[in-house]
Amino acid sequence: MCGIIGYIGKKQAYPIIINGLKKLEYRGYDSYGICILNNDNVFLKKKVGRISNENGENLRDGNLGIGHSRWATTGGVCEKNAHPHEYNGFYVVHNGIVENYKELKEDLIKKGHKFNSDTDTEVIAHLISEEFKDNLEDAVRKALKKIIGSYGVAIVSPKDKDKIVIAKMSSPIIIGICKDGHIVASDPSAVIDFTKQIVTLDDGEIAVLKKDGYMILKEKKIEIIDWESDAVSKGEYEHFMLKEIMEEPNVIENATQGRLLEDNVKLGGLETSKERLEKTNKIYLVGCGTGYHAAKTGEYLMEEIAGIDAEAHMASEIRYRNVRLGPNYAAIFVSQSGETADNLACLKRMKEVGVLPLGVTNVIGSTQTRETEGGVYTRCGPEIAVASTKAFIGQLTVLTMISIFLGRQRNLSKERAKEIISELKELPRKGSLILDNHKQIQELAKKYSQFKNFWFIGRKFNYPIAMEGALKLKEISYVHAEGTPGGELKHGPLALIDENCPTIAICTKDSVYDKMISNIEEVKARNGKVIAIATEGDGKIKDIVDDVIYIPETLECLTPLLSTIPLHLFAYYFALSLNRDIDKPRNLAKSVTVE
Ligand code: M6R
Repeated sequence: MCGIIGYIGKKQAYPIIINGLKKLEYRGYDSYGICILNNDNVFLKKKVGRISNENGENLRDGNLGIGHSRWATTGGVCEKNAHPHEYNGFYVVHNGIVENYKELKEDLIKKGHKFNSDTDTEVIAHLISEEFKDNLEDAVRKALKKIIGSYGVAIVSPKDKDKIVIAKMSSPIIIGICKDGHIVASDPSAVIDFTKQIVTLDDGEIAVLKKDGYMILKEKKIEIIDWESDAVSKGEYEHFMLKEIMEEPNVIENATQGRLLEDNVKLGGLETSKERLEKTNKIYLVGCGTGYHAAKTGEYLMEEIAGIDAEAHMASEIRYRNVRLGPNYAAIFVSQSGETADNLACLKRMKEVGVLPLGVTNVIGSTQTRETEGGVYTRCGPEIAVASTKAFIGQLTVLTMISIFLGRQRNLSKERAKEIISELKELPRKGSLILDNHKQIQELAKKYSQFKNFWFIGRKFNYPIAMEGALKLKEISYVHAEGTPGGELKHGPLALIDENCPTIAICTKDSVYDKMISNIEEVKARNGKVIAIATEGDGKIKDIVDDVIYIPETLECLTPLLSTIPLHLFAYYFALSLNRDIDKPRNLAKSVTVE
């Protein structure tokens, strides 16, 4: 949550900061702020609302500045709580939470400090002022020692000019190395227009950025961003979410490229863990939101394909439970951003007790990729819409490949592996056929757009997909939706079904088809409307349900990779017909870097 950006160099800082804030807006869009230093002159602007409405005019002179897009945690959404926060000439932008801010603030007030905001962040500016003698980085180091919590911070001051001091603890910070200067940002999307060379700060590190160089306490490796600048633009699409759904077939292709052998997979990121994985008794799959839905699908995939005990958990729950952990267990963390706080806290705990920590991650160089001992990138490119779509497809693809990998270490036959692999190769084409049908899905979404409650059902592999369909609908449309296993309907939810609560049923031709048909009939008997996601060629289902969206036939274990696509499209078009703010739904942020 919250995006931070800063520039120091030969160019004007203002347009670079505006550009960066627009790229980072997905991380928080309650308010934004900019601070430009030009010798002793300070320009400070704070505004409630969205940076996307800022036209970048009123250029302010200055080659040094910082900026922030806020997702409110401590303190309401108002101008005084927008960053940068200033005290006595020290300007701070912060992503994270100062957990002990109340105690610190009380002490500072006793010393005579006056506060201008209700935020936790403001105490950082005050602490720096207390510690400052003549060197900003020294003051920052001393101030941060007093803080409990998480931070990615950038600080500037006319009292120690020509530098930006940055620091990281549990919130991401990267430095973009440009020909004419340096950019600090929360993630690579904010620097990609200017450079592909980045350095990632580790927890506890402090760095000083100057026009002609940067200094971190230790030597760091330069990484190269492997996507193009247009990957962070909407192109011909009205919303990032639609663009990202349209990329889903491509994501399957990218994620599998060079990784599929004839009867096995080649996953470089698991090579060093190969021997431990052979001896692993059980896999925990951990994620949040959509990442959890992928983890849950992974649980079914691993049981079925790999023949290994697997259990999916929400990170926010498992981190406080007493589940059995130890060196014979592995944990796979599933995350688009690789920065989700609950995942990272759980990862830390798992590592401490000797569990093998692995990641399925999209963002290169993110904390999750650095804290795990191995893993597999989903290679989706940047995902900007708050609602996660293509990343989910990337996660399912990678989890399928990991299941094959684990299966071939166990009892998965060469023939079965071959069958799954050759069908995986067909999926980009089959996925594109579903997208070709987007007009029908758009019409259906419009037809149902007056309903305020939806039920999503699926069984086995499609149960997590029902949860995913429901989450997507609720988060961008603000209508109530729930996803449950079809078999659970009669244990309670059926009481809610009537002509005002339509059901979306994933009823593909597979081992639970007949059971799903019975569940659909239970709904129809209560006057519930049903939209079915069904397998091409299934004529029978048309006579039972109100509407059908057909998807191509595939192997049962691969169905989620296709059945998800119409649900993502349905949610998108539903929200479109309600005129919602699709890419930036209210109250949410893309990366949840606080607990
Ligand atoms: O970056 P992550 O994949 O770890 O994010 C996890 C969730 O916050 C995320 O999937 C969230 O649920 C999405 N907004 C759902 O569309």
